[in-house]
Amino acid sequence: MVWWEAVLSPALQVLFDKLASGDILELLRRWNINDLLLEKLKIAYFTCTVVLDDAEEKQYFNPAIQTWLDMLKDAVCEAEDALDFLATEALRCKVELSPQSLSNQVRNKNFLANNFSPYDEGMNVKIEKIIEKLEFIAKQKGILGLESSGKGIHGMMHRTPTTPLVVESCIYGRENEKEDIINLLLADDGTNNQGFSVIPIVGMGGIGKTTLAQIVYNDKRIDEAFDVKAWACVSDDFNSINITKALLESSTAKPCDTMNLELLQRGLKQTLNKKRFLIVLDDVWNENFENWNELSISFMDGDPRSRIIVTSRNEGVLRVMKALPAYRLKELSDTQCWLLFQDHTLENEDSEKYLSLRQIGREIVKKCQGLPLAVKMLGGLLASKLDAVYWNQVLNSNLWDLPQKKNSILPSLRLSYHHLPPNLKRCFAYCSIFPKGYEFERKNLVLLWMAEGFVQPGAKISMEEVGDEYFSELLSRSFFQESALNRSRYVMHDLINDLAGSVSRISCVRQEENWQREHLEWSEKVHHFSYISQQI
Ligand SMILES: Nc1ncnc2c1ncn2[C@@H]1O[C@H](COP(=O)(O)OP(=O)(O)O)[C@@H](O)[C@H]1O
Ligand SMILES: [Mg+2]
Repeated sequence: MVWWEAVLSPALQVLFDKLASGDILELLRRWNINDLLLEKLKIAYFTCTVVLDDAEEKQYFNPAIQTWLDMLKDAVCEAEDALDFLATEALRCKVELSPQSLSNQVRNKNFLANNFSPYDEGMNVKIEKIIEKLEFIAKQKGILGLESSGKGIHGMMHRTPTTPLVVESCIYGRENEKEDIINLLLADDGTNNQGFSVIPIVGMGGIGKTTLAQIVYNDKRIDEAFDVKAWACVSDDFNSINITKALLESSTAKPCDTMNLELLQRGLKQTLNKKRFLIVLDDVWNENFENWNELSISFMDGDPRSRIIVTSRNEGVLRVMKALPAYRLKELSDTQCWLLFQDHTLENEDSEKYLSLRQIGREIVKKCQGLPLAVKMLGGLLASKLDAVYWNQVLNSNLWDLPQKKNSILPSLRLSYHHLPPNLKRCFAYCSIFPKGYEFERKNLVLLWMAEGFVQPGAKISMEEVGDEYFSELLSRSFFQESALNRSRYVMHDLINDLAGSVSRISCVRQEENWQREHLEWSEKVHHFSYISQQI
């Protein structure tokens, strides 16, 4: 099977295959696990999943379908857990019973012959219940009007050529904006009585605020003018301890292991003392005045020409910071968006041959409304299949018509997710356990996917290599991006993190430090949980 041809749960498919192998089947029989039940489970499962494509698209227009999908995902996770348990136990017994096994020599040699079964009835009942659930779910297909797509869009996708590193595409436009910000940073006036000035860059998510701050931060003139530079990614959680720590580590380029605010403040204050510093607080949301006071204590004794760039989607935060007037970042022009789109799709393709694609592409780019993030995501998606029918399908998708509320997921991002091959959908949705701005390593994420059973082994390549290909695919489709601060690590854009949260819904829960039990959105349908702590 080609790796992108899996259905909802690649893990389940692998488990079915594992359990169907001769010697494992034999063990299961001896444990009184009814293999007919396994067959029934398989059929019930496939009966539900044939309408998956249709359900995933229609869920946004019909809450009943969303609930139906939640039920299906939950039942599939339960099935996975049960089969995984069986497969692991069977494997364990196989190893223990092998002639080479030391334990076997001291164990009861008649282990199998005794028909000893640690699971028997309990496990059969469990599987029966899952089948019942799946059969119930399958019955609702018709009532909800779900149809088997039969389009096989996933199966026909050609794989984007993968490279270990995706070279960050060029930055389009922003020359004037860059100069404007640099002038504000280098100007001698504009300081207020705080001893530093706050320069806000404001605009929609995905418009390019962080990118602009980065190109400014890395400019030679800035390096020459400022004594100390520090960058902190703030995101949802305006936590003075974490931000002060991040700034201290960034300015000294050394890790720091205390979480004591007073010590951290003292350290940062010392580093900034009498220096002309540039600090970037990226993606600030919080309007909490006390937190700002707590954080800004460390900035008071610097050179008054010091600057703090704050990027934010929320102008409200700026009142608290006594900031200069906001620098409002505009959308990219159609031409800039088109150039960016081409970078991701038709860059090296001969222009005559792809004339019709260009026309459709231009229409699609217009729908991105000048947001480079949306352009990159759609570019990454459409590059997977240079075919006019497919591109038209994306152009005319119903998902563009979803009502847009404040902070709701952009249709372009939903579309990119919707068209991912199913196994990548799962791998991506799982990433919602990462907090916003979290930097992760490629290898570690692949190992986590493998542990969850999301990675299907290939015929000739190792599981790690297959997982690595999944990663490259998600990277080339801009679901992940290289961290600007540490090139060997990766991050998800905040809006992509929101997308992962929205598609994984109740199955993944993450908790940050200081959570309170009563606030935990816990249900039986939670299958993945992360707890983020600064202290171990
Ligand atoms: N001018 C640009 N040209 C090309 N790509 C851009 C440009 N601005 C932003 N991007 C890309 O768009 C994505 C979103 O940009 P980002 O700066 O993270 O947005 P924001 O911080 O406003 O949410 C990133 O992947 C970035 O590389
Ligand atoms: Mg940003």
